Amino acid sequence: MEYREFYNGVKIPMLGFGVYQIPDYEEAKKATLSALRAGYRLIDTAQGYMNEQAIGDAIKESGIPRDEIFVTTKLWIQDFSYDGAIKAAELSMERLGLEYIDLLLLHQPMGDYINAWRGLEKLYKDGKLKSIGMANCYPHVLVDLCETFEIKPMINQVEMHPFFQQQLNVDTMNEYGVVPEAWAPFDEGLRDFFNNPILVEIGKKYGKSAAQVALRWNIQRGVVVIPKSVHEDRIKQNFDVFDFTLSDEDMEQIKGMDLGHSEIVNHFDPQWIKMLHQWKF
Ligand SMILES: NC(=O)c1ccc[n+]([C@@H]2O[C@H](COP(=O)([O-])OP(=O)(O)OC[C@H]3O[C@@H](n4cnc5c(N)ncnc54)[C@H](OP(=O)(O)O)[C@@H]3O)[C@@H](O)[C@H]2O)c1
Repeated sequence: MEYREFYNGVKIPMLGFGVYQIPDYEEAKKATLSALRAGYRLIDTAQGYMNEQAIGDAIKESGIPRDEIFVTTKLWIQDFSYDGAIKAAELSMERLGLEYIDLLLLHQPMGDYINAWRGLEKLYKDGKLKSIGMANCYPHVLVDLCETFEIKPMINQVEMHPFFQQQLNVDTMNEYGVVPEAWAPFDEGLRDFFNNPILVEIGKKYGKSAAQVALRWNIQRGVVVIPKSVHEDRIKQNFDVFDFTLSDEDMEQIKGMDLGHSEIVNHFDPQWIKMLHQWKF
């Protein structure tokens, strides 16, 4: 496994397992166990995914020592206040059955995230959270946070895949010492992602799938990836990306696929912001 190191010295695996859209207890637990058995040591959940209990139970059942597994979870907007964030973080620890969380994120830079962040800073100083970060920050928002917070985010988890590359965001994170992490590294399968001719053709040279090429591309530009699957063969396939290297020419060709915007969530659409505020977990 390859790692990136946060500015506080904590190391995060370059490849982890995402568990969004697996609300069913048994399915989430089975998929997580498959991932842990396949070698994944980073699990990415959230209060909003409604599966923290299943993830915690899978970790326990795996028998893998706690300090070998990196667990990320996220708090939702409804809990964004100083006390609310502390209470919600404690609830996550209880559901996960863990005494500390490796990385806690605020899921959106929305609502009273400034005070919620102060709550996270307190838990970080108390040692309950080993690292803290943000999700869904576009570069101008990230700069504002980094210039405001006492403790800068260690990571920024945003949508990043060949169709939405966010190079300015990656460059901004690098400038501020914030590690970039990609959610939806397959664009959630949109645009017939897994049959994309460019990714498939590049993959043929290395005996790899379009999915593996997309993961490798992000890893090679220093971005942590957290693909999701409930199928054991795909879980294994997605982990098998450390035995080949894309050439500069391949990287350049993938660069040309960028559409420059998301097709999953539009943070610039007022209706989307209203809807995100209305979601409660
Ligand atoms: N911070 C945020 O706001 C945010 C937002 C979204 C996601 N996330 C995190 O990022 C993780 C990944 O993103 P995501 O789940 O939205 O989407 P994704 O990983 O881009 O795509 C998942 C989709 O790809 C399919 N798939 C996976 N591997 C495949 C393969 N090798 N070949 C063909 N199909 C494959 C999966 O189907 P099967 O499951 O049927 O195999 C699923 O439909 C999430 O699970 C979550 O942890 C965070």
